[in-house]
Amino acid sequence: MSDTANPAVIRRADYAAPAFLVDSVALEFDLAPERTVVKNTMRLRRNPDATPGSRLELMGEALAFIGAAIDGKALAAGAVRAHEHGLSIGDVPDAFELVIESTCNPVENTTLSGLYVSSGNFFTQCEAEGFRRITYFFDRPDVMATYTVTLRADKSAYPVLLSNGNLVEEGELADGRHFAKWEDPFKKPCYLFALVAGKLVALEERIRSRSGKDKLLQVWVEPHDLDKTRHAMDSLIHSIHWDEERFGLELDLDRFMIVAVSDFNMGAMENKGLNIFNTKYVLANPETATDTDFSNVEAVVGHEYFHNWTGNRVTCRDWFQLSLKEGLTVFRDQEFSSDMQGGATDETARAVKRIEDVRVLRQMQFAEDAGPMAHPVRPESYVEINNFYTMTVYEKGAEVVRMYQTLFGREGFRRGMDLYFKRHDGQAVTCDDFRHAMADANGRDLAQFERWYSQAGTPRVSVRTAYDAATQRYSITLAQSYGDAAPAARETQTGPLLIPFAIGLIGRDGKDIALRLEGERSETGTTRVIELTEPEQTFTFVDIKEAPLPSLLRNFSAPVIVEYDYTNDELAFLLAHDSDPFNRWEAGQRLATRELLALAARAAAGESLSLDDSFVAAFARVLTDESLSPAFRELAMMLPSEAYLAEQMEQADPAAVHAARQFARKRLATALKNEWLAIYERHVTPGAYEPTPQAAGQRALKNLALAYLAELDDPADAVRLANAQYDSANNMTDRAAALAALLAASATAGAGVAEPALDQFYRRFEKEPLVIDKWFALQATQRGSAKHRVIDVVRRLMAHPAFTLRNPNRARSLIFSFCAANPAQFHAVDGSGYAYWAEQVVALDSLNPQVAARLARSLELWRRYTPALGDQMRAALERVAAQVKSRDVREIVEKALA
Ligand code: ARG
Ligand code: ZN
Repeated sequence: MSDTANPAVIRRADYAAPAFLVDSVALEFDLAPERTVVKNTMRLRRNPDATPGSRLELMGEALAFIGAAIDGKALAAGAVRAHEHGLSIGDVPDAFELVIESTCNPVENTTLSGLYVSSGNFFTQCEAEGFRRITYFFDRPDVMATYTVTLRADKSAYPVLLSNGNLVEEGELADGRHFAKWEDPFKKPCYLFALVAGKLVALEERIRSRSGKDKLLQVWVEPHDLDKTRHAMDSLIHSIHWDEERFGLELDLDRFMIVAVSDFNMGAMENKGLNIFNTKYVLANPETATDTDFSNVEAVVGHEYFHNWTGNRVTCRDWFQLSLKEGLTVFRDQEFSSDMQGGATDETARAVKRIEDVRVLRQMQFAEDAGPMAHPVRPESYVEINNFYTMTVYEKGAEVVRMYQTLFGREGFRRGMDLYFKRHDGQAVTCDDFRHAMADANGRDLAQFERWYSQAGTPRVSVRTAYDAATQRYSITLAQSYGDAAPAARETQTGPLLIPFAIGLIGRDGKDIALRLEGERSETGTTRVIELTEPEQTFTFVDIKEAPLPSLLRNFSAPVIVEYDYTNDELAFLLAHDSDPFNRWEAGQRLATRELLALAARAAAGESLSLDDSFVAAFARVLTDESLSPAFRELAMMLPSEAYLAEQMEQADPAAVHAARQFARKRLATALKNEWLAIYERHVTPGAYEPTPQAAGQRALKNLALAYLAELDDPADAVRLANAQYDSANNMTDRAAALAALLAASATAGAGVAEPALDQFYRRFEKEPLVIDKWFALQATQRGSAKHRVIDVVRRLMAHPAFTLRNPNRARSLIFSFCAANPAQFHAVDGSGYAYWAEQVVALDSLNPQVAARLARSLELWRRYTPALGDQMRAALERVAAQVKSRDVREIVEKALA
């Protein structure tokens, strides 16, 4: 399919400056659920940098036009035309005031883009293109204006009226109505506009910024959620201090607000001074939130706060540059979380965060890069921009930013950031602008580095080594390629990348060897960042007294796949000794991946399975190594996920992968039963719950022990411990883990072991939607069997009174959990999972295209599966393609089938 013929495709190459500039916008809202009236007064002038055109074209969607006036004169019907995509006005002056009045219907807006009602309150979501659903405008990020917003509404129904910036006036109106007027002093693109109105309460704090200014911080929620706001507030305060310290960036407003809403398509949104969050990333207390929830709240609060500089003060010229703000801000939130984990210096604690991030990248982004949606960090084209808020733009984008820091060090990276703000504060710019700032601040030519933004696909670096005992030289040859990349990726590839490749050499004693490259005068530490720029290059280390073991791509210094044939013994040695904690974990994962793929091949062929004692012994050493933190041990003992393993197969076979991984889990459970029991007892943390990294690490390891014990043929110990843990838990981490263990044990011990706790959990948390989401998700991701098909459970839960397709969190908790996080059950050979998937995509398509399009992606890798599955997947995609209407879903299924 050639998309040159398709007018719906938007291309980066077609960028043109906006025809008009908007200096100021004054918005007046008369808020009513069925019919909100919006009066929009703009100061416009022609853009001297644009090609002149006579008409004024504004974007608008799902609006009812009332009227417009230019410089106070109402436009006659013939001078203005409202159509499906906007408003077109004939001959306009060079500079003028334009007033437009229109209405929208927030309560009927199920897309959750634009202005909508959730639990009786008003919220907005404008990124990427939701502002055009509120008023007619140049809905593009390079049109930046100052905003004044007046909100009018019934006072008893909507006592709180919020918008961006500072509150400048409020008061009473007739008929029980009231108003509030807000002014945002900073120019912004319209995607950062926000308003909130309703019955909300706030947790407040006042803090002083580094330069001595007083700031008001608020976390707004529905009244019954006020007891779950403390952690978000603490996270916000930590974020503010961290950005001051690490990057010298201060909060630029007197007031900063976070608002929680339970109906939200994504995680959260960085609207200037008025961040709007999915409740999932704000609300947390020990009773209702797990340790993972606590750290997610911290990360997302940080992320949105950091956008104030990387996104808002400096924004994107066009949506192709999305990673300019998202990749950079993800990198910043990763570094923030890392520092909060272990401080700036504890490398093992920092590694825990790094490992978690890399695991997500490799499982999700590498898969994206291998399929029909593969695109560069800076895409070349799109049909629907909301489909490009992807793992590639966010997570690979963050890796690309991280590579600057790996190349230039923290100080060099900071110099680049300083120059970036010095040059571009208040502007809408491109990824190239960021790269140039990094290059110029560090006196480097980064022309080759541009390929990280323009090439899709996951690079592979294959490694060959040679040791010459006579000359004491050790040479490493690195060769880069893309392997056989997906067609969508291949067409973007033009040449070799600049790959910062961190390397260490380990001696027989398990210690790092001091490194000196040929031609250098002296040794420079024990980890070296080599810069690979050619298709193939050899680097020679001198004065190497014995044949070393290489530790490759330390701390995952570049988003690539490393190919090197370690022996199992070498991997076990690295797992025991590598000083780089990331690579220590990585050695275990490599070992496990190799063994599990071999097992999966046997399982697929119907052969019997067995696992070597040395495999168990290598993991036993890590499990019982008290010098390692519990958090690290928990990560090291967790086998690669089924999704990741399936992705590594020539032809993905979820059933075989599941059989293999379950076999290995059972083997580790059985062989190390006493160790697991001892670990469990040892890491029970008495006393009050604390969400610290140390305490969370203890809980994680203890609950992993419980999960392994639940795998035993006789899970009686696990059932006893889990029931006791469930009953006595003083926090959600332990309670949910106990419930999960009971569900896992029910695979051997029968459904009866989990049912009482499952019912009790529901009744206990009936009034806590985020906890009920967990209840749905736990059941949708449970292990199944021939007798106990999870699809039957899922279909039954669809009819549960608490289930609704309209709330994205709830839809995700049941449907996405099953379709994207339970591969063995979803990919049942009878096609029952695919039939269900197709129904749900079609149902969601007419309600909420953004959510539907995410779900649609569950089948995009159909070509990579065994034909028995792949054929059925394609058929399901075709069925969906024939029925769906939204641009969002059509782009996904058409690309998948192309
Ligand atoms: N900018 C938001 C973030 O912090 C994401 C908003 C995306 N929303 C959407 N509908 N595509 O990452
Ligand atoms: Zn973001």
